[in-house]
Amino acid sequence: MELFDVYKMLPVELAYAKGYHVYDTQSNEYLDFYGGHAVISIGHSHVKYIAALTKQLHEISYYSNAVEFKLRNEVAQKLGELSGYDEYQLFLCNSGAEAIENALKLASFQNGKKKIVAFKGGFHGRTSAAVSITDNPKIQAPVNEGGEVVILESENIELLEKTLAAGDVCAVVIEGIRGVGGIYVPSNFFLKAIEELCAKHEAVFICDEIQSGYGRTGKFFAHQHAGVKPDLITVAKGMANGFPVGGVLIHPKFKPKYGMLGTTFGGNPLACAACMSVLDVLEKEELVENAAKVGTYLKEQLESIPAIKTVVGEGLMLGLVFEGDVKDIQHALVEEERVLTGSSSRPNEIRLLPPLTIDVPAVDDFIAKLKKVVPQGVPVEK
Ligand SMILES: Cc1ncc(COP(=O)(O)O)c(C=O)c1O
Repeated sequence: MELFDVYKMLPVELAYAKGYHVYDTQSNEYLDFYGGHAVISIGHSHVKYIAALTKQLHEISYYSNAVEFKLRNEVAQKLGELSGYDEYQLFLCNSGAEAIENALKLASFQNGKKKIVAFKGGFHGRTSAAVSITDNPKIQAPVNEGGEVVILESENIELLEKTLAAGDVCAVVIEGIRGVGGIYVPSNFFLKAIEELCAKHEAVFICDEIQSGYGRTGKFFAHQHAGVKPDLITVAKGMANGFPVGGVLIHPKFKPKYGMLGTTFGGNPLACAACMSVLDVLEKEELVENAAKVGTYLKEQLESIPAIKTVVGEGLMLGLVFEGDVKDIQHALVEEERVLTGSSSRPNEIRLLPPLTIDVPAVDDFIAKLKKVVPQGVPVEK
């Protein structure tokens, strides 16, 4: 049997990894400024992460939510404490898309409505409800159609108000910082408008922090830069440093009922051990603060490169916007300089999502390598 060939891959086969480096089968070292789609938060093969998972594997690797498991409650407690959402509740699942599905269900259970407002260029996953609110018809199959979805232009408060005023909107979903669709930071003003309008028109405010959360932007959640408090917050990616985990942080006004949500694997012992060790390392190594500090330095360095038109984003979630297509630059970065970076739906953007452990030497190394492969000559008008 062959694999179902749906992924365009980089010409690299990885064998092992440590910190912010990954190594191929010939032991060539690559600088990882992508973290495998923003997943590596505490660095590859962190000793505490390995120890936590190994210990758990020896104790009990799996049992379902049919039995008590203290570490599961401790993960919720610690996440509440570190994120500033102590009073919220946590539902654990296995991926980002699943977190979105559950958030949409919760919203709909809560107010009985079904129309969802999402935004242009947004990405929320590939399962049925998640893909129906993702602004990309190419990844929607006919079976995903049928939901009542309105995709609006970001920042258009007037249109948002008009849409919500009809009274039939179940939820408004926005990424804390947009990732896949091209890095875009919603204005504080727009996020505040969403918060206020949702409260006024009894719609649920869902913030998708699957990519932008867990310290990546220099605060635990990207929306915290704007001082808003969503009703539901979806998380995944950096949450367990590569172990497949997703979750929804749920405002106390949502009352749980047995059987309302459920999953076989969500919140299993190994997943909880991974989650707990990520939270522990984030706290002890002050990685949220590191993301803010090193992110600022990285942005400054990038802004001094003439070929880059603009640098967008916050902390360690940055988009480097060039004048033209970035394919050649990215290939040269991998093949000549051994640096992994990401792309987005914008053909002229390189997306950087490095581990939150990167430091000034890693940034200097990256900048030196990037400078070697970007077009030289006439500076781009900024
Ligand atoms: C903002 C956002 N939401 C949801 C998802 C879907 O997550 P997953 O691939 O874990 O289903 C992604 C994945 O890239 C994402 O970036």
